[in-house]
Amino acid sequence: LKHDVTREDMVVAIGGGILTDITALAASLFKRGCQLAFVPTTLLAMVDAAVGGKTAVNFTGYKNILGNFYPAHKIIIDLDFLDKLPESEFENGYIEIKKIALLADSGLLEMIKEKAPLQALIEKAILTKKEFCLQDPNDMGERRFLNLGHTFAHLIETATNFNFPHGLAVAKGIMLAAAYSVFLGKLSQDEFNQISLLFEPYQLPNFPLLNFTEFKKIIRKDKKKGKEVNLILLESIYKPFLFPEANLKRLYNFIYQK
Ligand SMILES: NC(=O)c1ccc[n+]([C@@H]2O[C@H](COP(=O)([O-])OP(=O)(O)OC[C@H]3O[C@@H](n4cnc5c(N)ncnc54)[C@H](O)[C@@H]3O)[C@@H](O)[C@H]2O)c1
Repeated sequence: LKHDVTREDMVVAIGGGILTDITALAASLFKRGCQLAFVPTTLLAMVDAAVGGKTAVNFTGYKNILGNFYPAHKIIIDLDFLDKLPESEFENGYIEIKKIALLADSGLLEMIKEKAPLQALIEKAILTKKEFCLQDPNDMGERRFLNLGHTFAHLIETATNFNFPHGLAVAKGIMLAAAYSVFLGKLSQDEFNQISLLFEPYQLPNFPLLNFTEFKKIIRKDKKKGKEVNLILLESIYKPFLFPEANLKRLYNFIYQK
């Protein structure tokens, strides 16, 4: 207000996903929405946080509990920002690219296997995610497939007090989702093995030890709907589906191999 900013002025967020999320929420609220541009500087923000228009901030201990939809009017991606990005942050973004690759037959998975240049991978990942967002702008249907691995990742992150790299938690979550899909007779062992190869390079964490009560409490907070927990599972590579799991004891016993 001091600087006479109007709705026509553009707010530019230069940074990682936390910054783009917070700035987008602020830009959406200021005078009911001013111009917004992103210059994402992490790989994760380039392929994920900056794409699709979701904004969010944490509140009272709940992650991303306040937010809305406010897509940026411009996104500028400069790969030079990645030169100084720590390896673990790079990994977080690369694992999201692998997740997107499993969800749609866009050619991204082949490009990863063929070790395509990073710029091409980023472009393809953005276009693939964009398709999900365009089909389901309000995040009520197919777009939720982008949460593959995230329910389990959230469990791992919460149980370890967020002292865990997000990407590795997501990779572990995707592997668990794939294994549970095999357990339920939905995914073939052969496709499970193909997915395992994608995440072989990473040292995946053990699932944190939780008793059933703790497990239920944490997992229900994540995408809770009634007593069921909505899991994104795979019928095959490129064919995710939403599985409302009401039998949490079965899921718990599966994870802890009881
Ligand atoms: N809006 C969405 O749809 C969406 C999607 C995915 C994730 N997110 C959100 O994004 C956040 C995660 O984003 P992130 O992984 O970018 O994390 P981040 O914003 O915390 O950035 C990670 C770290 O990298 C540093 N950094 C940023 N750019 C750098 C660079 N070029 N060189 C060196 N260091 C750099 C940051 O200072 C920070 O310490 C989470 O809050 C998540 O909820 C939002």
